[in-house]
Amino acid sequence: MSNTVGTEACLDTKALDEILGSIPDVGGDDLVPILQQVQKAYGYLPKPILMTVSERTGIAAARIFGVATFYEQFHLEPHGRHTVRCCRGTACHVRGGPGIIEAIKQALGVEPGETTEDMRFTFETVACLGTCFLAPVIMVNNDYFGNLNARKIKSILERYT
Ligand code: FES
Repeated sequence: MSNTVGTEACLDTKALDEILGSIPDVGGDDLVPILQQVQKAYGYLPKPILMTVSERTGIAAARIFGVATFYEQFHLEPHGRHTVRCCRGTACHVRGGPGIIEAIKQALGVEPGETTEDMRFTFETVACLGTCFLAPVIMVNNDYFGNLNARKIKSILERYT
């Protein structure tokens, strides 16, 4: 993974100014909505922007980073337009999950946790997608694909541009 889009060097705080300006009397209770808006504006949660949030709101940086890392919805690194989540749980594992992970790695050219150079996909593995009856299963954004085999992966990913 490597990408220069959205790197910290080219960040400006205009969007953050607007976000914080739209919230009167910013306090700790506003943290999650602020982070949601920051992520929407920047595509992820850039560390310098989070430090600026801390300076301007008085919310401790440790608390901000604690919340940012606790919730799965938040990303501290640039994130692709589409998220591919592959289950690595037991039910999927025994029904060919490792082969699915390998097929995704080969199709995208990235490891789990990484984003493709063109920012099209971020690939993640998760402990269980909660649909074990579909094993092996992946999600692309909010779409489930179950009873998979490695041959189906390429055509599934091609649907997402
Ligand atoms: S183990 Fe794969 S969805 Fe639960």
